[in-house]
Amino acid sequence: MKVLVVGSGGREHALVRALRRSPQNPEILALPGNAGIAADARIVEGDPVDVAIAEGVGLVVVGPEAPLVAGLADRLVGAGIPVFGPGSGAARLEGSKAFAKEIMEAAGVPTAGWSEHATVDDAMAAIDRYPAVLKADGLAAGKGVVIAPDEVEARAALREMLVDQRFGAMSVVVEEHLEGEELSLLALCDGRRAVAMAPARDFKRIGDGDTGPNTGGMGSFSPVAGVDVDAIVAAVHQPVVDEMARRGTPFHGVLYAGLMLTADGPKVIEFNVRFGDPETQALLPRLRSDLLALLRAAADDDGLAEATMEWDDATAVTVVLASAGYPATSRNGDVIRGLEKAAALRAEVTHAGTARDADGEIVTAGGRVLNVTALGVDAGAAREAAYAAAEVIDFDGKQLRRDIAAKAMENR
Ligand code: AMP
Ligand code: GLY
Repeated sequence: MKVLVVGSGGREHALVRALRRSPQNPEILALPGNAGIAADARIVEGDPVDVAIAEGVGLVVVGPEAPLVAGLADRLVGAGIPVFGPGSGAARLEGSKAFAKEIMEAAGVPTAGWSEHATVDDAMAAIDRYPAVLKADGLAAGKGVVIAPDEVEARAALREMLVDQRFGAMSVVVEEHLEGEELSLLALCDGRRAVAMAPARDFKRIGDGDTGPNTGGMGSFSPVAGVDVDAIVAAVHQPVVDEMARRGTPFHGVLYAGLMLTADGPKVIEFNVRFGDPETQALLPRLRSDLLALLRAAADDDGLAEATMEWDDATAVTVVLASAGYPATSRNGDVIRGLEKAAALRAEVTHAGTARDADGEIVTAGGRVLNVTALGVDAGAAREAAYAAAEVIDFDGKQLRRDIAAKAMENR
């Protein structure tokens, strides 16, 4: 079977690698891919629907949210091509924070209290306590969320969102501030049922100890100890899948719940309608089941009825290497050295923002550049192996967090 993976990040490289491990020996195509994906898949160009038809693709796996929100899955289904990923109606769970809240309310899913506002003054009036959580409605690549410590910063952030239109949002959501540890729990969905993947945690801030601005994610690990996965899926993912089916927009693909494990139990911070990045880089190397069979089954109504997922007992730790200036900016063209050396170590290196320059060298081409994942018998061993490989890779301005999964070690 031919499988087309749409996207160009570390998540997509991890998907390509895991699909290659399928016993079905699929031929993998990637669009647009990156310099690392090019070594593991055939890069194709053009409109994904046209490519899928021309190539006789048996499954399209859509990595990022933007094409899903824009209706790529609907177009593929319309062309009779199986697709892993929700239609635009169900992708609104990520595309609109207000819509996600409305669905959670209807489905009785625990989440932070919230209200939606179209003006700065209305939003300010709704804040009853600090820190205040302010979210621009719409897709903002993880950067549309501000945790404002006081009135001055809240007003400035709201002006940026609603007056300067920094994220193109028409409204903002003012949300209750939740406290606790975060958890990423992803479930594969076939329109009717949600089947849990292993629990993971990601690290959103740029700096050690969760300091500095939010990023797309600087590292991850899986599994997370002490999490009742089945209880969370029953309380969160399944009711949402049921509600979406009731509304005639069944959810196919992966429903990613970003959760806060509060003293009152898990509460949803956000939904994503695609695999997490960099959670996927830590999750998939632990998956012992055939990813291709699972993704293909999720495309069919009730296709996951018989599905199970087997996971390696090992812990996986992923460390992201970012380019100079990230997350405010990023620097392209810095030559990356040591990739062969890292590959010889016990680590899996997936590419995110990389490209091949005119001299054939692999260079930085974006904010998050590479992901270094290692497995170990516990978090300590996995960390050691991941950081050993991260250390031998070098480029000017390389940034990494030193504390990925450090706390997971203490928890054991
Ligand atoms: P989001 O883009 O909605 O995932 O938010 C990005 C990050 O902001 C989350 O991963 C949390 O660390 C933080 N955050 C978002 N909403 C809340 C909330 N209600 N309470 C506390 N932290 C939050
Ligand atoms: N790791 C956060 C995200 O994928 O949105």
